Amino acid sequence: MKTVFDFFCHSPTVLFGAGRFADLPVRLEQLGKSRVLLITTTGGARRYRAVADVLASQLAASFDGAVAHCPIEIAHAALKTFRTRECDVVVTVGGGSTIGLGKYIAVETGAPHITLPTTLSGSEMTPLFGVLVDGEKRSRREPNALANTVIVDPALAQSLPIRETATTGMNALAHCIEALYVPKSNPLTSQLALTGIDMLYRALKKLADEPTDLEARTQAAYGATIGGLMINSVGIGMHHRICHILGGRFKVPHGESNCVVLPHVLAYNAPAIPEACATMESVMGAHPAVALQRLVRDLGAPVSLRELDVPADSIAAIADESFRHIDHNPLPVDEAAVLKLLQAAWAGQEPSVR
Ligand SMILES: [Fe+2]
Repeated sequence: MKTVFDFFCHSPTVLFGAGRFADLPVRLEQLGKSRVLLITTTGGARRYRAVADVLASQLAASFDGAVAHCPIEIAHAALKTFRTRECDVVVTVGGGSTIGLGKYIAVETGAPHITLPTTLSGSEMTPLFGVLVDGEKRSRREPNALANTVIVDPALAQSLPIRETATTGMNALAHCIEALYVPKSNPLTSQLALTGIDMLYRALKKLADEPTDLEARTQAAYGATIGGLMINSVGIGMHHRICHILGGRFKVPHGESNCVVLPHVLAYNAPAIPEACATMESVMGAHPAVALQRLVRDLGAPVSLRELDVPADSIAAIADESFRHIDHNPLPVDEAAVLKLLQAAWAGQEPSVR
């Protein structure tokens, strides 16, 4: 165990628990804000009608046009609504794309952002967001993009389809697992990360059979919140570098690449974190890399890059580009190792446990 370390974490205020969306009006009063721009997707406006209702006279305007990847035209339209309706706070309800639009408004206006996440991506806990400009995703990280308040209400996520639960859940697991072996990891974050892994694994197992189970939704939301904190505090590693290349080159959605790649990277790095792996194995009943791939199958999510339409003849180029973007790893890694790992991921093989 490291006995000398730095710990750093900026976190929004987190209000956690089923039914907590009803605390939104009081939180707005605490912040001295009264004119909300409420942002959702089109479907979200119907699904989360209760949030608009609870705002009552605090709701100044609604914008239900949030879409994936946050195109700049959409961001400009939302910003225009915020300004013309003289809003003083932005509230978002939804997943990473909706939350990202809220971050954009917060950065452009300086207004506080209150977000109610409904997926497990953990985006609500970070100051990272992306905007699509001329077909190119421009990632930004700005202090003002960190939400003021996150209201994690697991009851809002009860209707999340199992596919999105699986993909964003594996992303959350990846945030916790990578936190175990990145250079900034420390005893504080590692304990939290192991708790997050435990919560997410048990919850996803349960949700595979009972997608609306509120206790499992609550555990999953707890683990996802930890995952978001881990990105903020210690950052990401080799697994995310590979997923980002797959997203950039082949538009593979982030959650889906997580489902496929995570078991293989964990199998590779497991010898660097033997104690954490033993803890995970005691929860999962098998080597965690193998158990996670089984979980992905049980959830009906993809286990191979082939299923995600990544061409077989592109694997060598992806390995080359990924290797050049890996800036650290707990074990030595070379291009041949990344290629082998990606070939196994393409074919959906069982991860090669060393
Ligand atoms: Fe991620």
